Amino acid sequence: MRAETDRLILRPWEARDLEPFAALNADPEVMRFFPARFTREETAAYIERVAAMADTGFGFQAVEEKASGDLVGVVGMAPVKPEYPSAPAVEVGWRLAKNHWGKGYAQEAARGWLAYGFGTLALTEIVAFTYVNNIPSRRVMERLGMTYDASGDFEHPGLAEGHPLRPHELYRLKTEDFRA
Ligand SMILES: CC(C)(COP(=O)(O)OP(=O)(O)OC[C@H]1O[C@@H](n2cnc3c(N)ncnc32)[C@H](O)[C@@H]1OP(=O)(O)O)[C@@H](O)C(=O)NCCC(=O)NCCS
Repeated sequence: MRAETDRLILRPWEARDLEPFAALNADPEVMRFFPARFTREETAAYIERVAAMADTGFGFQAVEEKASGDLVGVVGMAPVKPEYPSAPAVEVGWRLAKNHWGKGYAQEAARGWLAYGFGTLALTEIVAFTYVNNIPSRRVMERLGMTYDASGDFEHPGLAEGHPLRPHELYRLKTEDFRA
């Protein structure tokens, strides 16, 4: 998927992204709600894995700031893994470099993806989920018009029982509630 919003370009990964994306994934503050930071090799493997999704129309892709050409972070959409209780569904997600927080870029990029999902892909619903105490991420969901589904609370299946980051909350957005 390739799209432009007012201030951003949503595009596939390029070789020049590895350096800044590895730095983002190694930043303890950016990764504070993830079980671990990524090594450079893990970042390279992640890019390869999500890039392989491109043929399906889904993917977690690069977000570039038009004004500077900087990599802002990763935003994208993908089918929820089958081991998650909310599957089958399509999720939208985001992770930005700290110097690009507080500018509205997560919502702006997510809106680009939602427009593509509800438009081109003709999806009827898109979900998002996050660790319960990730307030900035929940704010993004709320600003996008997503609704918290109390019946969707779940324990992250990829984390061991008792892991403090396990409790997750689910938000939903129906196509008729989306205003680009
Ligand atoms: C979650 C995350 C992407 C949110 O980033 P963010 O910058 O807070 O979110 P947005 O890009 O939507 O920006 C919203 C903020 O920008 C401000 N803003 C400034 N200019 C704006 C504009 N033109 N439009 C909208 N908002 C604007 C808003 O007031 C808001 O600030 P507030 O939260 O203090 O009210 C970011 O915190 C992050 O990358 N966290 C680490 C990774 C992570 O946890 N990802 C989610 C895993 S589920």
